[in-house]
Amino acid sequence: MKVFFFHLLLLLLSLLLCEVVSPLRDITQSSCSSSKLHENYDHQKLNGSGMHFILHHPRNPCSPASLHHLSFSDVLHQDTLRVSALTSRLTTKHHHRQHRANNLAANDPALVSVPLSPGSSLGIGNYITIIRLGTPSSSYAMVVDTGSSLTWLQCSPCLIYCHDQTGPIFNPSASTTYHLVPCSATECSGLKSTTLNPPACSTSNVCIYDATYGDSSFSLGYLSKDTLIIGSSSLPNFVFGCGQDNRGLFGRSAGLIGLGKDKLSLLSQLAPKLGNAFSYCLPTMSSTGFLSIGSYDPSHLVLTPLVKSSLDNTLYFIKLSSIRVAGKALSLSSTSSYSDTPTIIDSGTVITRFPTDIYTALSNAVSYALSKYPRSPKYSILDTCFKGSAANVAAPEVVLVFEGGAEWKLATRNVLIDVDSGNTCLAFAPAGRVAIIGNRQQQTFKVVYDVGNSKLGFASGACG
Ligand SMILES: *[C@@H]1O[C@H](CO)[C@@H](O)[C@H](O)[C@H]1NC(C)=O
Repeated sequence: MKVFFFHLLLLLLSLLLCEVVSPLRDITQSSCSSSKLHENYDHQKLNGSGMHFILHHPRNPCSPASLHHLSFSDVLHQDTLRVSALTSRLTTKHHHRQHRANNLAANDPALVSVPLSPGSSLGIGNYITIIRLGTPSSSYAMVVDTGSSLTWLQCSPCLIYCHDQTGPIFNPSASTTYHLVPCSATECSGLKSTTLNPPACSTSNVCIYDATYGDSSFSLGYLSKDTLIIGSSSLPNFVFGCGQDNRGLFGRSAGLIGLGKDKLSLLSQLAPKLGNAFSYCLPTMSSTGFLSIGSYDPSHLVLTPLVKSSLDNTLYFIKLSSIRVAGKALSLSSTSSYSDTPTIIDSGTVITRFPTDIYTALSNAVSYALSKYPRSPKYSILDTCFKGSAANVAAPEVVLVFEGGAEWKLATRNVLIDVDSGNTCLAFAPAGRVAIIGNRQQQTFKVVYDVGNSKLGFASGACG
C-alpha cells in the first residue's frame, strides 16, 4: 500500500512538473539516443511551397509518441483489425452508433463505458507529427491518417476518458480563441460524411461528434474551433474534435490528424490557403520523413489518376492494372482480377493487401524467384518466409503498375520485411475483395495526393 502511494505521489509530482516546463520540452523522450531529432520537435515550416511537417515512424524511439515497446506480431495483429475495418467500410453498410453520442449528450458517463477489446487500436501503423493549436498555442503529438477525415485531440476535462499522453492535454478554457460549434452549424450537419456517424446535440446545443475506427476504437466529444498555427502564420476557426472519451489510441499521442477527402479534413480546411494537395515521405524506423500540404515539385513524379468510388467518398482510390515480378507479369486465372478490385492507398495500413488470387500469384512468383533460399515457417499474417534477412536475400524486383502505365518499382525493403533476426517474409498478405497499398510499400517514396487535379504521384528515394 505504502509503495502504491509513493508511486502515486511520484506520478502527481511528475504531472505537476510537466505542467510547468514548456510543451516543446514535454514531448522529448529519454529513451531516444539521437539528440539531432529533438531539435526538430518544433517541426513545422511554412514557405512558398506550403506547410511542412516532420514525420516519425510510429516505432522510432525518437518519435514524440513512440510505440517502440510493441512487438512486431502485435503490430501485425493490429494491422489486421485496421484492414477489417477498412474492408467492411468498402463492402458493407456502415452501422451507426448513435446511442453513444446521445449518451454524452445526456452527460451520463456510466452509460458510455463501451468495453475496449484488448489491444484494439487505430494508431498503431500511423506516422506521427506535431501540430500547434490554441492561443497561446501548445504542441500536440498527433497520428496522421489518410483513412479518416476528422482531426481531434484529447481535451480536458476528459469527461469520460483520456489516456496518458505525451505533453499536456488540450485545455479549451485556457485558449482565448476556442469556440464550441453549435448544432445548427453546417460543420455539424456535415459530420455524417466526415465520421460516417451522425452527430448528436447536447442539452446546451453543442454539436457532438463520434469518430469510430473499426471495432472498438473511437473518439467522442464536442465539435470545436480554434486557431491552428501554421509556421509563422495561423488559421483561425480550424474545426476539430475536442475528445471527451477517447479509446484505442496507443503510443501516448494526443490525437489524430484526418487527411481523408471529406470537407472537414485538415487538407480541405487548409486547401483554400495552401492548395488542394499534400505529399509525404514515410520514413523507416531510424530516420525522419515529411508531410507537406500545398503545392509540390512535379519533377521525377510518376502519375496515375485518383479515381472516385461509389463505395466511399473519403478514401483515396487508384486503379491497379498489373503486377510484375522479376520482369514477368503475374499470371492470373481471371483477366478481370485487377479491374474488379477496388484499390485504396492508405498511410496507416502496414502490410499491403491483395485479394487472394492476386496475392497467391504474387507469393508464387516471389517464391519461384527465391527458390534457392531455405523457407521458414509463416509468421502471423505473413506466409511467404525465408531464412535470412532482407539485406542478404536477393529479392526479385516487384513492380506495381497503375492506370496510365504508372510503374511503382519497389525496393527490396518494400518487398521483404524481417520478422526476427533470422527470418524475412514477403511483406504482402491476402485479404477479402479489396486491395490496400500499405505503408511498408510506400516507405522512403515521396507520395503526392493532388486532390484538386485527381492525381496520385510517386517518386523513389525521398527520405531515409
Ligand atoms: C520549403 O521547405 C521545404 C521543406 O524544408 C523544402 O523542401 C522546399 O524546397 C521549400 N520550398 C521553398 C519554395 O522554399
